[in-house]
Amino acid sequence: MDRVNKPAPEQGIKKKILVTGGAGYIGSHVVKALGERGHDVLVFDNLSTGRRDLVLHGTLVVGDLQDLELLDNTLKKFRPDAVMHFAASISVFESVQDPMKYYRNNTVNTINLIDIVVQNGVQNLVFSSTAAVYGVPAQNRPVDERATLLPINPYGWTKLMAERVLQDLSDASRAFHYVSLRYFNVAGADSGGRIGQRYPVSTHIITRCLKAAKGELAVLPIYGTDYPTSDGTCIRDYIHVDDLADAHIAALDHLLGGGTSEVFNCGYGHGTSVRDVVKAAKKVTGVDFRVTEEGRRPGDPPFLVADPSKLIRALSWKPRYDDLRYIVETAWNWEKSL
Ligand SMILES: NC(=O)c1ccc[n+]([C@@H]2O[C@H](COP(=O)([O-])OP(=O)(O)OC[C@H]3O[C@@H](n4cnc5c(N)ncnc54)[C@H](O)[C@@H]3O)[C@@H](O)[C@H]2O)c1
Repeated sequence: MDRVNKPAPEQGIKKKILVTGGAGYIGSHVVKALGERGHDVLVFDNLSTGRRDLVLHGTLVVGDLQDLELLDNTLKKFRPDAVMHFAASISVFESVQDPMKYYRNNTVNTINLIDIVVQNGVQNLVFSSTAAVYGVPAQNRPVDERATLLPINPYGWTKLMAERVLQDLSDASRAFHYVSLRYFNVAGADSGGRIGQRYPVSTHIITRCLKAAKGELAVLPIYGTDYPTSDGTCIRDYIHVDDLADAHIAALDHLLGGGTSEVFNCGYGHGTSVRDVVKAAKKVTGVDFRVTEEGRRPGDPPFLVADPSKLIRALSWKPRYDDLRYIVETAWNWEKSL
């Protein structure tokens, strides 16, 4: 029988959740949230960019998604109720230089994972997707899930292809269901300062500002100051990582409650310019770090903001940290501890 949207399972029911990439930035915040709700968590991560000490809860299996035997054995032993799939390569720039690495890690490995998940009778999967699937939106207004899907870099294509596989499989199967969450600009850190971003090289603007404030970057370049926006710089929708983690919990509850396959945008629905991010970072850190104004980077949309109405409506998601200052403060507390 096809599933219909049913109420979320009762609070406090403990489930087994396998989290690929759970030692990374976003995955570790979701693992924290799963732990707080009493779920039994197993993290599967090759630690290529993730770190053991970011896993605050559950068990870590160090393994690569390419190791299909280990993956299969892990699923057979753990018998999860759902899989949350974060593991991926995430640099847009690198994906242009080395597309095959991205198609292998983000598309091929996802297809292999889905195969093993289904073979092991797991029916629920939450997938980390991205606003990069929209490419450059036609208009300077928030995009909803029905907007044209036209990535402008290999990273976006690898994620869109994985989404398509999930959709086709779900359409063909009465048993398998997924939720794909399309994240906009994820930022901030755990309020307790225990976990945060630890990328080997960060391309995220807030982290780069903080590295400039710490003196680890000599200068913070702003790329493009002549865009058709309020102050000429790009506008992005920055979502606090703990609000994003809540969206994952809501997606999981939806699936475990028998909900249908869905795609949701994850953002706050309003944007902040690069200049405003720099101002906030200078205010929070108290450091007047050096900024230069450079030319535009090819492929940077002037305006990329989510319309999160569907997530709010269908999953009753309520953002708690829609505040740039809080986002920068939590990121700064974390950054100072490194
Ligand atoms: N950070 C963002 O702003 C953002 C935006 C949109 C989407 N996403 C997506 O969110 C997910 C998590 O991103 P993140 O920012 O936490 O990055 P991250 O690099 O911190 O996390 C990725 C994790 O996956 C692991 N991993 C990578 N390849 C693996 C493999 N083959 N086998 C096992 N483990 C592997 C890494 O060690 C790391 O722990 C990714 O799928 C990414 O595409 C991130």
